[in-house]
Amino acid sequence: MTEAHPGEWQRKDLLGIRDLSRREIEIILETAESFREVAERPIKKVPTLRGKTTVNLFFEASTRTSSSFEIAEKRMSADAINFSTSSSSLSKGESLLDTTRTLESMAPDVLVIRHNHPMVPHALAKRIASRVINAGDGAHEHPTQALLDALTIVQKKGSIEGLRVAIVGDIEHSRVVRSNVLLLRALGADVTVAGPRTLMPDEAESLGADVQYRMESAIEGADVIMMLRIQLERQGRTRLPSNDEYFQLFGLTRERVALAKDDVIIMHPGPLNRGVEIASDVADGGSSVILEQVTNGLAVRMAVLFLLCGVPAS
Ligand code: CP
Repeated sequence: MTEAHPGEWQRKDLLGIRDLSRREIEIILETAESFREVAERPIKKVPTLRGKTTVNLFFEASTRTSSSFEIAEKRMSADAINFSTSSSSLSKGESLLDTTRTLESMAPDVLVIRHNHPMVPHALAKRIASRVINAGDGAHEHPTQALLDALTIVQKKGSIEGLRVAIVGDIEHSRVVRSNVLLLRALGADVTVAGPRTLMPDEAESLGADVQYRMESAIEGADVIMMLRIQLERQGRTRLPSNDEYFQLFGLTRERVALAKDDVIIMHPGPLNRGVEIASDVADGGSSVILEQVTNGLAVRMAVLFLLCGVPAS
């Protein structure tokens, strides 16, 4: 397991990849690598966070991120509390800040926050002493997803420097793409994003990615293909004619995978919409690393919890 990077990690909160230096990203990935072996032990538990309390505040649906944080916290011996918005006093009209301050009064060490509005974790981090981890804020950032994606790519390819990465799908509404473009560019990848014009934000190029509107142009010669879900819950109005037509133009099929490098890896943050953005035989095929991404999520979240808890809360 890990030896901390003494004095090198100073950050109390993890709010976005945009805030991180290349060295900070490397520290998280190195620490995560050392936590991976905990999952292979007969007793998957270490005492690292004994006596610490973590609160998981998910104001938006989640399967992977919420369960991954909870398992990571329990494997590190933290007292982990899950906060359900539907059974809380938020449903009686209590404000988000009052709810958070109420929880803060019980002195948790870490708050893990997912919210459908951008920058909510950032705003709360300024007002409360606990360490804050952004588990996804609207279409803004999802830093632990990008970190687990990077860990998976490094395991499969050895390094991110110089790789050609194609990210395809609903670029406008994806927090995963924002965090990933920032991280992959910081580590030296060449990133192309592709999707329909109706789902391509004006800022796509300013993130540092090449922009394509034909999927084939993006994935030709790629080392990594990352597919994204159509985020209907964030679209005010339908931007697509039909799922079938979308699959015809932007669905990842075996024929399209053949345009990429022979050793391409196929990624998806989940949840998958089979037959919409990805064919089932590709999602379940030999080049897919989708479940390895989920496994790596545990190691990344353990690493982040470990590093933040080594820094005094404010
Ligand atoms: N990738 C991801 O964030 O999945 P969940 O929405 O299930 O947490």
